[in-house]
Amino acid sequence: MEPTHKPVISSTGLFTPDESISNAELVESFNAYVAKFNADNQADIEAGEVEPLQPSSVEFIEKASGIKSRHVIAKAPVLDIECMAPRWPERSNDEPSIMAEIGVKAARQALERAGREAKDVDAVLCAASNMQRPYPAMAIEIQQALGIEGFGFDMNVACSSATFGIQTAADYIRAGNAKSVLVVSPEITSGHLNWRDRDSHFIFGDVATAVLVEDASLAPADHWEILGTKLKTVFSNNIRNNFGFLNRAHPETADAPDKLFVQEGRKVFKEVVPMVAQMIADEAQRLSIEPQSLRRLWLHQANAGMNRLIAQRVLGHEASEDESPTVLDTYGNTSSAGSIIAFHLHSEDLVAGDTGIICSFGAGYSAGTVFVRKVRT
Ligand code: COA
Repeated sequence: MEPTHKPVISSTGLFTPDESISNAELVESFNAYVAKFNADNQADIEAGEVEPLQPSSVEFIEKASGIKSRHVIAKAPVLDIECMAPRWPERSNDEPSIMAEIGVKAARQALERAGREAKDVDAVLCAASNMQRPYPAMAIEIQQALGIEGFGFDMNVACSSATFGIQTAADYIRAGNAKSVLVVSPEITSGHLNWRDRDSHFIFGDVATAVLVEDASLAPADHWEILGTKLKTVFSNNIRNNFGFLNRAHPETADAPDKLFVQEGRKVFKEVVPMVAQMIADEAQRLSIEPQSLRRLWLHQANAGMNRLIAQRVLGHEASEDESPTVLDTYGNTSSAGSIIAFHLHSEDLVAGDTGIICSFGAGYSAGTVFVRKVRT
């Protein structure tokens, strides 16, 4: 029997911070830090007691990742070698928190694009890799700022937060528990990135996205039918961040580098590519969709090489930019927001009947697929 409630994506929204750091600016700052560290520690380095730091390079970054620049909320402190972290004035409890503020901007755009008023939305999920605080939930603050009744809660599944959020929202629609759900992903990844770590200092950028998941009965004329969603998690320590409220139980290691993003990049690459390609193939088969017929793949944006391989395995040939668009060059890795940015910026040209896939993968490991079909009524 046909389900009564069909979930669709009615619209998306995107907030991009004004400031951006080019690879050249990033490497200049990083190498100045390296030179200073090595000069400050010259005696210990010569005595063999301290390892000298190695410089970074623009060529390596672009070749290894495809990233050319990244947006950040606060550029100057990240590039200041005495700081190398985001900084902005602390806000009082009466002011909007920064995560909620950028999430609201993306959410407002999604609502506007769908012609939807806040009163018609039933729930807000704030789905992101990091939450600014444990409680009250960021989602509830966003809900209040938008004037939405109903409920909101936070969910964190690292780089797959947004697709897990979409399936959660779709399940509310399928079950008839909600008709309109906002999935908001404010990703301030500059806060979890170790800007002093040569292996990863170039990876991340800041952004916020929003996806409005609704019952087909409410949807605007142009929308995306959700054909199927699939989630998968497999425990791995290869991407890890040990920051957390229990760090205060071990004050002696509270500032250690493992309290920020760390990864075994090569292992991630090797293990995640086959897992995700297989997952897409299995799900396509379940939905009776020929993978080669997919008009577009909006893949997680972590690394251009990974996306090239996954797309090739799915489509059976090397994917063109049209088939598997990248936003890595200007946004970097924006965690769970990446595939949503790609979808937001590169979906308008598709025509009714075109089928595509939004796919995320990352820490956990976690992976999510959302097969969609363009509808124009
Ligand atoms: N500048 C210059 N050289 C660098 C460098 C930098 N910033 N960082 C590392 N290198 C060097 C290394 O020292 C190493 O040199 P060696 O071969 O002489 O030992 C070489 O480059 C290769 O380093 P490696 O870390 O193995 O690079 P890589 O080719 O595997 O690329 C990643 C690194 C992280 C870009 C890649 O592994 C990757 O994208 N993995 C998946 C990451 C991912 O998706 N993570 C999910 C996060 S949500």
